[in-house]
Amino acid sequence: ARKFFVGGNWKMNGSKKEIDDIVSFLKNDFLDPTVEIVVGVPSIYLSYTKSILPTNINICGQNCYKFAKGAYTGEISPAMLLDNGIPWVIIGHSERRNIFKESDELIAEKTFHAIESGLKIIICIGEKLEERESGKTEEVVFRQIKAIADKIKSWNNIVIAYEPVWAIGTGKTATPQQVQEVHDKLRTWLAENVNPSTAESLRIIYGGSVTADNAINLAKEKDIDGFLVGNASLKPDFIKIINARK
Ligand code: 13P
Repeated sequence: ARKFFVGGNWKMNGSKKEIDDIVSFLKNDFLDPTVEIVVGVPSIYLSYTKSILPTNINICGQNCYKFAKGAYTGEISPAMLLDNGIPWVIIGHSERRNIFKESDELIAEKTFHAIESGLKIIICIGEKLEERESGKTEEVVFRQIKAIADKIKSWNNIVIAYEPVWAIGTGKTATPQQVQEVHDKLRTWLAENVNPSTAESLRIIYGGSVTADNAINLAKEKDIDGFLVGNASLKPDFIKIINARK
């Protein structure tokens, strides 16, 4: 069985004071021990957050570059994350793809280097509104996943986050049926193009306006293995999302 996985993506939010508040609600409430939990933190706060976070929650970078070191002003490397005890990273978030113009190719190269370095990775994929409306959802997510599959050798340390761009930060959550359909197609694609055991064991999680309310029905679908949560991960609602299957 696939272990349920809930990630918080804080994006470019937080201050020491706000992080203290988030950590205190995470420490003081019941968290379903069968759920793997990570929080994605701005680079500059990774070490601070790690120093106060309870040990049942793991910490995650939000981005990294494709080399170990060098003249790449403003970037951080997988080796630097690991040197600071950060085991996870998010790669290919739609905000990186769309605002910072990261290509499928760059995302695949970064994923390759992060795996080789020993990081665990949440890879984000997902279609835009006009792509869904013109019937291109499958084509887009298959193209995004193929770029990665062509580069990497092992899927052991990967979680896929399906995050339709039209659902991110908009309050327009995809329905459980819409998400289940895409996750099922991704699993079939993986079975045919990678291998059946990877398709069976890989966690495919959903992100896009997940709330304490809609998480309950989303979590019932057989191919939804968890969530990647933006806004709600900054609030105590994150606890309810972690515990959505209880
Ligand atoms: P929201 O939950 O704020 O829609 O963000 C989703 C997201 O982008 C998580 O990576």
